[in-house]
Amino acid sequence: MQRRVLVATSNPGKLRDFAGAAEPYGITIAAIPHFSSLPPVVEDGATFEANARKKAEAYSLAVPGELVLADDSGLEIDALGGAPGVHSARYAAEEPHAAESNADDEANNARVLRELAGVPRERRAARFVCVLAVARDGQTLQTVRGTAEGLILAAPRGKNGFGYDPLFYFPQIGRTFAELSPAEKSRYSHRGAAFRAFLSWCATAHLTG
Ligand code: IMP
Repeated sequence: MQRRVLVATSNPGKLRDFAGAAEPYGITIAAIPHFSSLPPVVEDGATFEANARKKAEAYSLAVPGELVLADDSGLEIDALGGAPGVHSARYAAEEPHAAESNADDEANNARVLRELAGVPRERRAARFVCVLAVARDGQTLQTVRGTAEGLILAAPRGKNGFGYDPLFYFPQIGRTFAELSPAEKSRYSHRGAAFRAFLSWCATAHLTG
């Protein structure tokens, strides 16, 4: 039974979250060694699944025989036809379809607020989506998805988290994601839900090899 999973990220926060959640399952989470020196994968897929698979497959070739986990995530706003979606990280960049351009969180949030100006609360529904792909030796073994349903406020609230968290109001607990502790966020978030689905898959999959 393979009990070690390498995550395709250089983000220590994400690693800590994943490692903490995996520990009770007896699964060890670590970063791919020398991740930042590997050639970057261009995230130009049309869906979260396509990008997560592309990353997991490419990075798994760098660590033969290891299970590699990659994630892709973003925000879908119903009133904007699902935008920013796979363009979430670079929504405010001059050219949203230029797959390699990035814009910072504040500018992305400002664009969302501009585009939703005048849209009433009942039409501001949105969801965060996270797709995780697990691959070995260049082949995806499984993808899992987690979502969190909420709505976009007219002004930011809260100082925690990152990205669109200050705009994302989660009615279930009456707070934005930027008003949650890391433990609370992992309990309610799309990323937490996807990771729990991944852990259930690990518990049942036959991961020998
Ligand atoms: P990536 O999958 O790490 O590339 O993230 C894509 C983008 O989606 C991020 O840069 C954020 O703008 C947004 N995003 C994804 N997950 C979250 C979250 O949990 N909170 C806020 N923004 C998020």
